Amino acid sequence: MKLTAEQVQAYGRDGFLVVPDVFDATEVEAMRDEIRRLSTESVDAIREKDGEALRMFYRIHDERAPTPSPLFQRVARSPRMLGPAREVLGESDLYMFHSKCNVKEAISGDIWQWHQDYGSWVFDGMPTPHVSTILLIVEQASELGGCLYFVPGSHKLGLQAPEIDHVTTSYKLRVVPKKRMIEILGELPRPVAITAPAGSIVLFHGNAIHSSGHNLSKDPRWHLYFVYNPVSNKTEAVDNPRPEHVRSLDFRPLVEAPDEIVSVQTA
Ligand code: SIN
Ligand code: MN
Repeated sequence: MKLTAEQVQAYGRDGFLVVPDVFDATEVEAMRDEIRRLSTESVDAIREKDGEALRMFYRIHDERAPTPSPLFQRVARSPRMLGPAREVLGESDLYMFHSKCNVKEAISGDIWQWHQDYGSWVFDGMPTPHVSTILLIVEQASELGGCLYFVPGSHKLGLQAPEIDHVTTSYKLRVVPKKRMIEILGELPRPVAITAPAGSIVLFHGNAIHSSGHNLSKDPRWHLYFVYNPVSNKTEAVDNPRPEHVRSLDFRPLVEAPDEIVSVQTA
């Protein structure tokens, strides 16, 4: 899949780009079935603060994961994902830094404070924020349902010295400090709510500031995240590295798969 020149330009300007209807209803339904299966089987999982509700699980693209998913392995390597990631990064050799599914369950799905992903990844030894994540929307989000918000142009501010949020998340998240975030919200355009339909993708820059609210709705908000990092930006050694399901050491460039996502016969 090829983006238009305007789309690539919009990504450069805003730090994110919504591309609607990339995957069709049959494909999205297969992804929902797969999320239901992995939610009960995945070992690389994080719970909400109550210790019960599932918040997220990792490593959905990886054939060596304890709970491998052939479907998401194909999605991650699909020309509809790899093509746009290569275009916005201007690089062809990309590896997967990590992949995850945020389930944000109805009623109990909790918030993510304002943050830049590179604010965490710099501590993983990633040399630059020249990395792009693709969010794949599997269950459409609403504002009531805790959709994601991006601050347009925030990637151009550079890395905002993060602090660790011990209060609102169930795991260590490096966030933009509150005082600085209030300044940014006063200076930049209004945050954009990502409420695109299921099957849409959103590409975003490593320094794009984003957050999401509590899911107060009756529906889960299923989002997949695939982090495409140029091999030229692979992580360097750090003390006490995070585990491989968040900081992959498999730097082999991803090889494009046939674009067939659902009707593939497995051996
Ligand atoms: C994230 O930034 O890692 C997740 C945000 C969300 O899914 O709302
Ligand atoms: Mn994030």
